[in-house]
Amino acid sequence: MKKKKTLFLSFVLTVAMAFPLALSSPAASSHALTEGESLLQNRCTSCHGASKITRSKKDRNGWERTVRRMEQKGVMLTDNERNNLIHYLAETYGN
Ligand code: HEC
Repeated sequence: MKKKKTLFLSFVLTVAMAFPLALSSPAASSHALTEGESLLQNRCTSCHGASKITRSKKDRNGWERTVRRMEQKGVMLTDNERNNLIHYLAETYGN
């Protein structure tokens, strides 16, 4: 009985962990937007104000180039964070 319960629990955990990865619905995309916004506030405003970013308009490629250039200046981002940030910037300050 106890063993069955443990098995069931690990099944539930596996599904719960796999779920966000499998999800490519609006919920996942709005999570990326929320994370992108906080990345902008936390990683992009120490050298210049947010307005340097918020008054710009660039397409996805333009934002990717800018973010990569900022990384050369010292911004630290994981691949996942970079994707979410670029997604947010292109959606919010795109042209
Ligand atoms: C280590 C300091 C530093 C950090 C942190 C930083 N920047 Fe910059 N940023 C600069 C400097 C210096 C310039 C002006 C020189 C230039 O454009 O390369 C600049 C200019 C810019 C510009 C205007 C020029 C352009 O290409 O449109 C944008 C937009 C920008 N940064 C976005 C960002 C974003 C997005 C982040 C966060 C990922 C960020 N910055 C974080 C140093 C920084």
